[in-house]
Amino acid sequence: MPRKKYKKITEVRSFKNVFDYKNENIKQELLDYFANDKHFTLELGCGQADYTINMGLLYPHKNFIGIDRKPNRIWNASKNADKLKLKNVVFLIAYIEHLADIFPGSSVEEIWITFPDPYPRRSSMKKRLTHPRFLDIYKKILISDGIVNLKTDDTLLYDYTLEVIMKNNLRLLKETNDLYSNTNLSDEEKILTKYEKQHIEEGKKIKLISFGL
Ligand SMILES: C[S@@+](CC[C@H](N)C(=O)[O-])C[C@H]1O[C@@H](n2cnc3c(N)ncnc32)[C@H](O)[C@@H]1O
Repeated sequence: MPRKKYKKITEVRSFKNVFDYKNENIKQELLDYFANDKHFTLELGCGQADYTINMGLLYPHKNFIGIDRKPNRIWNASKNADKLKLKNVVFLIAYIEHLADIFPGSSVEEIWITFPDPYPRRSSMKKRLTHPRFLDIYKKILISDGIVNLKTDDTLLYDYTLEVIMKNNLRLLKETNDLYSNTNLSDEEKILTKYEKQHIEEGKKIKLISFGL
C-alpha cells in the first residue's frame, strides 16, 4: 500500500469529525456530537463528500453525515470540511449495509446517493444502492415523508431504479435523464461531485431521481 494511503488510514479515526461504525457506542457518539434533536441528511458512498460539505455550507443549522467504507476517502472529506470550519458536518466510515444498526428509526430526513458504482452485471444487481434490499434499510431510518435522491451518469442504473420505484409503488417525486438541461434547479441539485465533474467532462448526461419510500 502506498505510504500516503497508509498514513491516511491509520490517522483518520483520530479526527474529531470522523466516526467508525465499529465503535461500540456509535449511535450515542453521533447524537452527542450534534447535541440537537434535528434529523440527519446522509450522503451514501460520499467519497470526498462534495454533497455533504456543500449542503453543510448551504444549511448551517442542519445535520449532515457523509458515509463511505473507504477510510482514505473519508480522510480527504474530513480535511476539506476542517478547512471550511464546518461544525454541522461529520463523516462515518461504514458500509451502507449497516445503516439500520447505526441510525435510530425516523432519524433521517434525506438521503443522497451520489454517483454510486452501477454494478451493471445481473449477478451483482444486489449491490446496487437502489436495490430493494437497500431500500428496506433506508425505510427503517427515514422519516415518513423522507426523500431519497439518486444522482448518476449511468443509464442502466437510472432505468433500473425507475423500474424498482414503479414495481414497488413508491412515490416518484422527480426524474430527469438530463439534469442540466433544466433551468430551475435547486441549490442542492446543482452541487457537483468529483465523479460528476469527470462524467460531465466526458460528455455524459447527468440523471437525477428523487423518491419517497
Ligand atoms: C464512484 S464513487 C463516488 C464518490 C462520490 N460520491 C462522488 O460522486 O464523487 C463510489 C463510492 O461509494 C463507496 N461505496 C460503494 N459501495 C459502498 C457500500 N456498500 N458502503 C459504503 N460505501 C460504499 C466507494 O467506496 C466509493 O467511494
